[in-house]
Amino acid sequence: MKKIVVFTGAGVSADSGIATFRDSDGLWANYRIEDVCTPEALVHNRPTVIDFYNIRRRELLQKRANPAHTAIASLEQAYEVEVITQNIDDLHERAGSTKITHLHGELSKLRSLSHADRIYAIEGWQEAVKAVEAGQDVDCYARVWKQALDAKDPYGDLLRPHVVFFGESVPNYDPACRIASTADILVVCGTSLAVYPAASLVFAVRKDIPVYLVDPARPDLSRIANSVHFIQKRAAEGMVELCENLLREA
Ligand code: APR
Repeated sequence: MKKIVVFTGAGVSADSGIATFRDSDGLWANYRIEDVCTPEALVHNRPTVIDFYNIRRRELLQKRANPAHTAIASLEQAYEVEVITQNIDDLHERAGSTKITHLHGELSKLRSLSHADRIYAIEGWQEAVKAVEAGQDVDCYARVWKQALDAKDPYGDLLRPHVVFFGESVPNYDPACRIASTADILVVCGTSLAVYPAASLVFAVRKDIPVYLVDPARPDLSRIANSVHFIQKRAAEGMVELCENLLREA
């Protein structure tokens, strides 16, 4: 069975109504990175940082996986599939993908401020997702999505979002490169390839394998040695077409 690695960024969730980062209406057009996504901000501006991720967690509970996420999950019918995502949402999981590596953390998890290996799934998150999808009001689940400023883990350590901030290491990057090196096909979807080391993942694949890239805008492909099949479409359309073709070819 051939192996497909699917490398995604914010663009794959754009058609679910989740803002990207660097598009004109993106997150970084409305927030300063240094205020909400650095270790220093967490120390000097904890309420603003915790609030920023509470807002994104509340929003995520109200979103759904889109056809791109579902198409990616459908590849598992005929391929060994590994998803490597820069996204901190859980929409790949909700669409049914089973092997997912999050490079930049997960909104649905918190971790100890002093012991980075103590990671905690937010209790009740899955139930809240199902209840909100069934039409219940998201604020009935504020207990789930709203991290209290002084929330602590069982050891008494203060908690923080399980998200990789700018300037922090990306512990899953090396494991992701090992996964990418075993790919027979690389699919890239919805990333500006602007943030490192994540963007270097495209160089971790064998040079003889095909690369498919789905994005309505053309990221810089000049440094990719592989043959690149560029599909200039939104993920919800381009990924569906691509995955249908890949399933036919399997
Ligand atoms: N379908 C597919 N791609 C889309 C869509 C869409 N509907 N809408 C936008 N895009 C593309 C944009 O053209 C762009 O190439 O998605 C990409 C979004 O780029 P960024 O906003 O830079 O997001 P991303 O590449 O995921 O950012 C990487 O930067 O801020 C950090 O940690 C954050 O993980 C994030 C990282």
